[in-house]
Amino acid sequence: VSAPAAVREPAWSPPHAAIGVGVLGATGYGGAELVRLLTTHPGAALLALGSRHQAGKPMARVWPSLPDLDLVLDDDPDDPGAWIDRGVAVVFSALPHGAFLARAAAFLDAGLRVVDLSSDFRLSTAEGVTYGLTEWCGTELDRARLVANPGCYATAVLLAILPAVTAGWWSGSPIIANALSGVSGAGRSPGLTTHFVECGNSAAPYRVGDEHAHLREIARALARVGQEGPVVFNPHLVPMARGILATVSIPLAAPVPLAAAQAHFATRYTGSAFVRVLDPGDLPETRHVRGSNRCDMALRLAAGGTVLLVFAAIDNLLKGAAGQAIQNWNRISGWPETTGLPVAGWSCA
Ligand SMILES: NC(=O)c1ccc[n+]([C@@H]2O[C@H](COP(=O)([O-])OP(=O)(O)OC[C@H]3O[C@@H](n4cnc5c(N)ncnc54)[C@H](OP(=O)(O)O)[C@@H]3O)[C@@H](O)[C@H]2O)c1
Repeated sequence: VSAPAAVREPAWSPPHAAIGVGVLGATGYGGAELVRLLTTHPGAALLALGSRHQAGKPMARVWPSLPDLDLVLDDDPDDPGAWIDRGVAVVFSALPHGAFLARAAAFLDAGLRVVDLSSDFRLSTAEGVTYGLTEWCGTELDRARLVANPGCYATAVLLAILPAVTAGWWSGSPIIANALSGVSGAGRSPGLTTHFVECGNSAAPYRVGDEHAHLREIARALARVGQEGPVVFNPHLVPMARGILATVSIPLAAPVPLAAAQAHFATRYTGSAFVRVLDPGDLPETRHVRGSNRCDMALRLAAGGTVLLVFAAIDNLLKGAAGQAIQNWNRISGWPETTGLPVAGWSCA
């Protein structure tokens, strides 16, 4: 994690030869969003999709929302050889944590570039692995052989706190991040806590305190910018299909006028098409970023000016998963960062 990079323009003009792309875990929520976005990406030729349970079926049969995609799902491959023979050069893995870990070396050794949506490599310090919080990546993304795509909660929380902590404003007292997530954050496999009757009309905290894995990811990202200190992270499941709203309280070492904080955040994200610091007085809502790769955020002061509040909203399946994965790949491959990615959200859903 380093200073945010301005959006890089490619040295050439599109159309540029499309690169062969494969998606592992294509039938899940993250995988299907990757596939949906990649089908219209001018730099991607979607050549291979992996699934354990739906192999042999056209993707359109599994996801009727993609009616023209007659590409047939393959068995989830252990070995990348068949995909490479078909022309795949980049693999997006949308498999659950641990499911790709043992195979990663084979894919990388075969020369494939990988963008992994799981948590398997987010804490890795191995050479060639880059933690892909895009707006805070520098040139290390260019050298990445494997991009560890950030978690959805971690994306919202880190985008909200990094401008303040890197400015030296954090007192070192605990940062408190309370976040709400839609149920698609838990993936497509059915479970009791994500059953409609259990969660459709209720809101519940889960894995609070020090329990959630994204806390370690947030701590690692803070350490990368030379900041260490306590963070309290409290996730909540709320009855909506998609979206994350993070409310972050940052204790201040010294007073910072709200207008100065607002200007600082806006400057930090100048050049980012996807991170928007809202006008003073406005607050973000998940419905405004649903279907978009944006992160909308807003700032307030609290407790007599001793605490900076930052509110951040993302779509967990886009900026929190598939969208950011493609944003990272755009940076790696030289396409403008916004290629194939929606800035506007859906009007309603
Ligand atoms: N959902 C989110 O908001 C979100 C956000 C950020 C990151 N992520 C990460 O992205 C990855 C995918 O998440 P998701 O929400 O798309 O999950 P999902 O809906 O459960 O989909 C995962 C897919 O992987 C396949 N799979 C292959 N091996 C598997 C195994 N051993 N166990 C279970 N499924 C297996 C499954 O398809 P087959 O059964 O057909 O093989 C399944 O469709 C996860 O690592 C997740 O943590 C998700």
